[in-house]
Amino acid sequence: MLKSIARFTTPFFILMYILSLLTNEVQFLFGVITNYSFCNNVQHGEEERHLNTIHSCVIHLWPDAKEHLEFIRCTEQQSLKGAPVEALWKGCSEKLRLNEEIINKCYTAGFGYKLLLQYANETAHLKPPQEYVPWVVVNNQPLGQDFENFVKYVCQAYKGDHKPAACNAQSSNLSPTIYTLPQPPVIPVVDFYKLALQWPPSVCSSTLNCKLPIPTEFKICGIWAQDAHDMPVPPYNARKPCTYPQPILTRPPLQQLLSGDIALWNQLPTLWPDLVLIGSDFEFWFKEWMKHGTCSDFAQHPLSYFQSALQLRTNLNSAMGLTRGSTYTVQQVVDTVFRFIGASPQISCSKHKRTNVLLLGELFICNGRPRPSYIFGRPQNCSNLFYGRCNSGSDTIEFP
Ligand SMILES: *[C@@H]1O[C@H](CO)[C@@H](O)[C@H](O)[C@H]1NC(C)=O
Ligand SMILES: *[C@@H]1O[C@H](CO)[C@@H](O)[C@H](O)[C@H]1NC(C)=O
Repeated sequence: MLKSIARFTTPFFILMYILSLLTNEVQFLFGVITNYSFCNNVQHGEEERHLNTIHSCVIHLWPDAKEHLEFIRCTEQQSLKGAPVEALWKGCSEKLRLNEEIINKCYTAGFGYKLLLQYANETAHLKPPQEYVPWVVVNNQPLGQDFENFVKYVCQAYKGDHKPAACNAQSSNLSPTIYTLPQPPVIPVVDFYKLALQWPPSVCSSTLNCKLPIPTEFKICGIWAQDAHDMPVPPYNARKPCTYPQPILTRPPLQQLLSGDIALWNQLPTLWPDLVLIGSDFEFWFKEWMKHGTCSDFAQHPLSYFQSALQLRTNLNSAMGLTRGSTYTVQQVVDTVFRFIGASPQISCSKHKRTNVLLLGELFICNGRPRPSYIFGRPQNCSNLFYGRCNSGSDTIEFP
């Protein structure tokens, strides 16, 4: 019996590889993570929790890692394509013949949510603590960025007689001991930036309770540092600093800095407003900065971070060539925006809270890393075209 316990939190795609090598010999523990970032979009948060809860149920109901991982992998793959949560997990349960009814019962009875909280708590209490994703630990030794070579560590830790075949395959390059693992500092790798824009008439009729009057031009919701897998680069963490000295992490110095630039300070509330009725603009900017700016190329230059977002937005057409009151396919929206900016945007749909009609909610414009002067070049194609509730170019959406 293998004593090693490898702990993973998503992304799940590496897990199939692991599975094929080690099958039942490794135990997995999943944590709750946020893969994606949304502006104010509560609904997306709910969808994510829905899916995490379903995963918790499936892990509990099918403790065999081969079964539940296959399911999780299936749902992750589908969700990257942007399928609605309910359809995607049901599709996966059908495909893998895992009884949909008992999963649903676990979910609706509230048991799944209890499991989820329990897993989240386990993840939060990992020793040593989890710092990023995926977080792989063998016999309590975090593998850090060497996680892809976890097979080596598992094999080294294996004390039984019959080594799994996967170990023999690479026994030649095992290093003598597992306890001298290098622990490189984690430098989150920024690959590109996403300017996240929201269309107020859509988000205010789907997920947000907004201040009046509701603006009718695209408003900034953030500028996000993304890695090469289109995942948000994690925010600053003092235990594994991504930058030195520590960036601004509290409100007063940020406010002082931003308000010192009169032009910026005057423009921000117009172009980057918090649409939420009870929201505060500065609080919104601060949250976005903390989450998406503190480990970006702008970590030491918050002023440039906000200036460049405004600059990017100012260069754009206020409705991107789209006509209010029209119905488009997602592909038509992509094509229209493409004509304006010369690059494919990413589209995120939301659902009207009363009519359930799909709306164009958010639009993401992708940009390569800024030049040394903190100025962005021309937009580039976004790698994923859909997001949220639309999952195909032929989905019909309204532009209210
Ligand atoms: C959370 O986990 C810790 C350590 O694993 C445990 O002591 C504690 O009771 C748990 N709390 C809840 C609410 O489950
Ligand atoms: C960007 O996408 C468009 C439309 O899909 C395509 O024609 C173009 O070749 C892409 N450009 C790059 C640099 O990939």
